[in-house]
Amino acid sequence: MSDRQILWPSNRLQKLFGIRYPIVQAGMVWVSGWKLCAAVGRCGGLGMIGAGSMKPEQLREHIRDARTALPDGTPFAVNVPLLRGDVQELIQVCLEMNVRIVFTSAGNPATFTETLKKAGTTVVHVVPTAKLAKKCEERGVDAVVCEGTEAGGHNGIDEIPTFVLVPQVRDAVRIPVIAAGGIADGRGIMAALSLGADGVQIGTRFAATQESSAHARYKQAVVDAGETDTVLSLKKIGPTRMIKSPFSLKCVEYEQRCATPDELQLLLDRKRERRGIFEGDWEEGQLEAGMCSGLIGDVPTVEQLMERLLAEYRDAVDRVAGNLE
Ligand SMILES: Cc1cc2nc3c(=O)[nH]c(=O)nc-3n(C[C@H](O)[C@H](O)[C@H](O)COP(=O)(O)O)c2cc1C
Repeated sequence: MSDRQILWPSNRLQKLFGIRYPIVQAGMVWVSGWKLCAAVGRCGGLGMIGAGSMKPEQLREHIRDARTALPDGTPFAVNVPLLRGDVQELIQVCLEMNVRIVFTSAGNPATFTETLKKAGTTVVHVVPTAKLAKKCEERGVDAVVCEGTEAGGHNGIDEIPTFVLVPQVRDAVRIPVIAAGGIADGRGIMAALSLGADGVQIGTRFAATQESSAHARYKQAVVDAGETDTVLSLKKIGPTRMIKSPFSLKCVEYEQRCATPDELQLLLDRKRERRGIFEGDWEEGQLEAGMCSGLIGDVPTVEQLMERLLAEYRDAVDRVAGNLE
C-alpha cells in the first residue's frame, strides 16, 4: 500500500489492537478465512477469522495459515459466535493457539470473558443495544462492536439502526466502541467516528473482495443488489438480513402466514448459509448481506479496497472541514 498522508486519529482502539487504521474486517461465516484475514492485516486493519463455519480442527489450520501469511507479530482476531454447539472447543483452540484478540457474538458476554481474560486475551463482544453494551463493560469486556440493523447476517431483535445506536452506546460505556452495520466506504467511516465510535467493523464490503472465500455468485449478487434488495427476515427465530432471493422471499412468505418457530427452523436447515454464501446457490441458499450492498459495485482486492476507504475517508474529512465542494 502506498503511504499516503491521512489524518487518522491515533486512538485507543488502534492501541488496544496494535493496528494502524481503526478498521476491523468482520468475522463472517463462509467468508473470512485466513486469506481475507491476512490480506486485511497486511494493509494495516484488523483481519478476523470467522470461526462460525469452522470445525475446531479447521479453525486451528486457519490460525496457523494466517500466522504464516502475516509478517511476524501482526495482530489478527478470531470471531466465535457463542450459539455454536461446540463453542467450548472453539474457545479452547483460541486459548491453545494463543490468539490475542477474540470477538464473541450471539450470546451472553459473561460466558467466556473471564476465562479469556485470565489468559491475557483481549475480548470484544458484539451488541445490538446500549443496555447490553453496559453489561459487557461490567463483565470486563475490553471493547464492544455495536451493530445496527442495516448489517448483513444475524441481527438484534430491536432493529436499531447504526446512526441511532452508536451515540447511545458511546454515552453508555467508557470502553472503546466499534460501529458496524451499513459502513461500506470512507464516508461511512467518517460518519461512525463522528457519532462517537473509536473504529468500524465492516462486513459485506469485505465479503465482496477477491480474498473473501464467498462464492463468485454470492459476490455478484452483492454487486447487483440495489438499495431495496435486502430483507430482514426469520424474526421469530433470529432476525437475519439477506439479499432478496427465492429462499429469503420464501422466509418472508412463511412469516406473513404466521409460521411457527418450528416451521421456520425446519425451513432453515443449517446448510442454507453454506449453500448461499459458499456454494453460490441463488435458489435455495441463504445470501446474508447488509443494506450497504446498494453501495457496492465491484469486487476489488483488499489492498485496492483499503486504499479506496482511506482516500474516501480523507475526502470526507475535507468535505466536512469545508475544503471540498
Ligand atoms: C455473509 C456474512 C456472514 C456473517 N457472519 C457472521 C458471523 O459468523 N459472526 C458474527 O458475529 N457476525 C457475522 N456477520 C455480521 C458481521 O460480523 C458484521 O457485523 C456485519 O456484516 C456488519 O454490517 P455490514 O454488513 O453492513 O458491514 C456476518 C455478515 C455477513 C454479511
